Amino acid sequence: MTETYIEKTSGRWRGRVYTLVMLLGIGAVVACTVKEGFISPAGSTEGYFHSREIERRVDSIMRLLTLEEKIGQLCMYTSHHDITGPSTPIYTEDLIREGKVGAMFNAFTSSHNAYLQRIAVEESPHGIPILFGYDVIHGFKTIFPINLAMSCSWDTTLVEQVARVSAMEATASGVKWTFSPMCDVSRDARWGRVSEGSGEDYLLCGKMGAAMVRGYQGTDMSSDTSLVACVKHLAGYGAVQAGRDYHTVDITERTLRGVYLPAYKTALDAGAASVMTAFNEVDGCPATSSYYLMTDILRNEWGFGGLVVSDYTAIMELLHHGTATDSLSATAQAINAGVNIDMESDFYRQYLRLAVEYGYVNERQVDRMCRDVLRIKFYAGLFDNPYQNTDTIRERTAHKKDSYMQLSRRVARESCVLLENEDMALPLDPALNIAVIGPLADSRDDLLGSWRAAGDTLGVLSILDAMRERYPHITYAKGSPLMGDDTTGFARAREIATAADVVLMVCGESCQWTGEAASVTDISLPSIQNELLQVVRGVNRNVVMILLNGRPLELTSVVPYTCAILEAWFPGSNGARGVVDIISGEYNPSGRLTMSFPRRVGQVPIHYDMKNTGRPYTPDNPQQKYLSRYLFTPNSPLFPFGYGLSYTTYEYSDVNVEKEHYLTGEPIRITARVKNTGKIAGVETAQLYVRDVVGSVTRPVRELKSWQKVYLEPGEEQIIVFSLTEKDLSFYRADMTWGIETGKYDVWVGGDSNASEGDYFYIKD
Ligand code: NOJ
Repeated sequence: MTETYIEKTSGRWRGRVYTLVMLLGIGAVVACTVKEGFISPAGSTEGYFHSREIERRVDSIMRLLTLEEKIGQLCMYTSHHDITGPSTPIYTEDLIREGKVGAMFNAFTSSHNAYLQRIAVEESPHGIPILFGYDVIHGFKTIFPINLAMSCSWDTTLVEQVARVSAMEATASGVKWTFSPMCDVSRDARWGRVSEGSGEDYLLCGKMGAAMVRGYQGTDMSSDTSLVACVKHLAGYGAVQAGRDYHTVDITERTLRGVYLPAYKTALDAGAASVMTAFNEVDGCPATSSYYLMTDILRNEWGFGGLVVSDYTAIMELLHHGTATDSLSATAQAINAGVNIDMESDFYRQYLRLAVEYGYVNERQVDRMCRDVLRIKFYAGLFDNPYQNTDTIRERTAHKKDSYMQLSRRVARESCVLLENEDMALPLDPALNIAVIGPLADSRDDLLGSWRAAGDTLGVLSILDAMRERYPHITYAKGSPLMGDDTTGFARAREIATAADVVLMVCGESCQWTGEAASVTDISLPSIQNELLQVVRGVNRNVVMILLNGRPLELTSVVPYTCAILEAWFPGSNGARGVVDIISGEYNPSGRLTMSFPRRVGQVPIHYDMKNTGRPYTPDNPQQKYLSRYLFTPNSPLFPFGYGLSYTTYEYSDVNVEKEHYLTGEPIRITARVKNTGKIAGVETAQLYVRDVVGSVTRPVRELKSWQKVYLEPGEEQIIVFSLTEKDLSFYRADMTWGIETGKYDVWVGGDSNASEGDYFYIKD
């Protein structure tokens, strides 16, 4: 029975160590079993939190706590936002007073959190401070482009800076814990949450996640400007069936370990102190009750020593999943799986004590879970300085600083992807008469995207505003709503389009159409926007489209009617200026897609690193019927992973693997020449792809292994050097061991996942 606590070997071992420490009250026992600081247990994560000093301090608190008070540390409740700001229900305040609230979320502003913290520290029995969490996903007050957009910069240093600024702002307003980064590999554009992640490739998702962890936590998590990071959602949330949020996930162990887990693991290796469970099931077991995920893999294999929080009411949802008969067993399943904190279900508070009394949960498991929470509170510096994030004077000047808004603009322009640019339709000359048309042209709110934390539209420019700042001859018509059948705006749109030299259309999605609980079955532009495009194009052939949206769209019916398309995503607080930097040519676009754009929604899930199948289709055998293909649509996406145009052009040549044969373990050196063949300087993202030609199991047709961003003056060329290690080529082999295999490997270097310049090498024993 899942309700019964099943002790695994290492769990028992850890339990004994803790019990011994509690009994003897000495740290020396811990000292001889674990090392100081971050340790890396055999091939495992570096983010393992364990120090003798902190364990001693945890012991000293554990000794004082009753079972109920320990359970209190495992309970988290939300604050509410009313018209004037966040507030907390009175009953929650009472619970804090009784020592029954370990963490809160959605509570912010320095004064509000100071008020709550004071109750915890001064009025609760042992004065244990509260850990305040919040969804700081792509900024706190200064909002940056949505995460999918930021990933298109392929710039981990930039993303780390964003996370640092987010931490500076959020910590000034009472927040100490962010539920970010989301490391869910996402391959289905119907899923609304693709906007929150870094796309379809696990290497990129992991590196972006790690960069965010570094930015949030800084070098010292106890600093008053550091946030505790939370890697989410373990595991496989991006693989929900048919892109429907919260839906079933049914993937093989090989796919789970080979594609989905590595991204979380990479972010944890950067030292993330917490993990959030996924809402979904994996292989029939809800993630929130999965001992396999939360203990076997996370703690025992990866050596994670931080805390695990359930997703919102996910423990209660075990009842709906149908794996728990009642609240008591749901509670027991979650805690026995290794979920430390119950977010909002209120099950731990109501049922955990009972579960212990009935023998469904061993009290030692409660102790373990409580220790993890206390440990992270120590690392976060909360015991030494519980009011570290409640300085109202600091808060007054902490937000939307000029430098932050400048960064928001910079990130926006580096996240935009130029999808089409016929005859150099872009950039636009300042002397032109430009008609700005479209339902999103004058929106400020949508620019912030979903999950904009405490962000607001104060000081946010719409694309129209930003165009007016730069261009003297602008006319404007909304043209149509985002959706629906109101065509009354068409006449004015036609009128100004007729009189203009060029039309700049701003179309796409409402920011409400992406994010959580925002899945769709149709990813094309709503028909009213397509009609508006037709109307405009009917009178003016120079149509440039700026897209604001949070997922790859089906643009097959848009491309023929536009001469340029700039994918600007939801670009954030100062995003409009960043977008106009590209429109005006002040910035040469450099963003690259991190999710494939399908031709038709029927192609999703679509991703570049697919398998070859036994009947691969290649365009040279078009007459063959019995091949893996669609009848009326090519297999390939409209815009592939890694793709993005620039105002200049780049040429790749001399892709060369240093040797033909390598011994297992030898580093592999690959070089390539890249040249800026155009007339202006630009930043190129050189991507390295590898194919393991024959494996003990089928292997992807190519996989991203590395990339480099290079700045090139016109005519300049550079030799790029990549180095691959055995780890880079390792995978889960037929027997599920992780390692490299001998044989031939093909290599390509180029500007997207269709790169054609390549070489090969062999690995031998
Ligand atoms: C539910 C979402 O799935 C999760 O990502 C978020 O952090 C929590 N709600 C808290 O708001």
